[in-house]
Amino acid sequence: MIALSLDDAKRLAAAKALDLVRPGMRLGLGTGTTAAHFVELLGARVAEGLRVICVPTSERTRTQAQLYSIPLSTIDATPELDLTVDGADEFDPQLRLIKGGGGAHLREKIVAMASQRMVVITDSSKFVRTLGKFPLPVEVNAFGLDATKRMILAAASAAGCYGEIRLRTNPSGHAYVSDNGHFILDCFFGSIPDPDELAARLVAVPGVVEHGLFIGIATGVICAGPAGVEIFGQID
Ligand code: A5P
Repeated sequence: MIALSLDDAKRLAAAKALDLVRPGMRLGLGTGTTAAHFVELLGARVAEGLRVICVPTSERTRTQAQLYSIPLSTIDATPELDLTVDGADEFDPQLRLIKGGGGAHLREKIVAMASQRMVVITDSSKFVRTLGKFPLPVEVNAFGLDATKRMILAAASAAGCYGEIRLRTNPSGHAYVSDNGHFILDCFFGSIPDPDELAARLVAVPGVVEHGLFIGIATGVICAGPAGVEIFGQID
């Protein structure tokens, strides 16, 4: 066992993911505190002469990458990517994820699905047997917010999920607005017994722009903790 802070573990996972990067790759850059470690480490490699082209998944990540002079593109200009490296709020043994704690899951999902591989980097606290302890973020259109929320509750209960749904707010108390101009509803289900069923029901709700369940998207997870680095699935 090694003594590791949560932040050390995130950085260790990010450093391991850096080994997957090859010259000339088209990379998707995730969002969040773990992905920020990857961006920083990648920036150091770019400063040493590594050539890559990157698509950020949020304005926050774009700003950070610009700070390190990482060459950037957009998903429109570069619609096919080799590898996306991103964090997660939870992952289960089938590599299903909850994402969107940072509010970026719509762009994260588009970029990950445009990539040949999505490798998730996490600390070991993110591994769960059953998803749902982390509130599931659902990005929704502002129009018809209350009607959409009711339909999400009905869709969720049909999938065996129950709990409060809260509009995400900023510290100022105002509604949080995503990079795409939408609101986010955080669903406090506690447990999601059938994530595939819930995902299918959520996409059928008008007003839902994107939910934070990533199913069949991550190809591998690099998970760092006191026992060292553990790999789930395939990372290369
Ligand atoms: C951003 O919207 C999220 O999907 C993040 O990738 C996820 O919340 C993980 O963030 P941390 O690395 O900060 O835990």
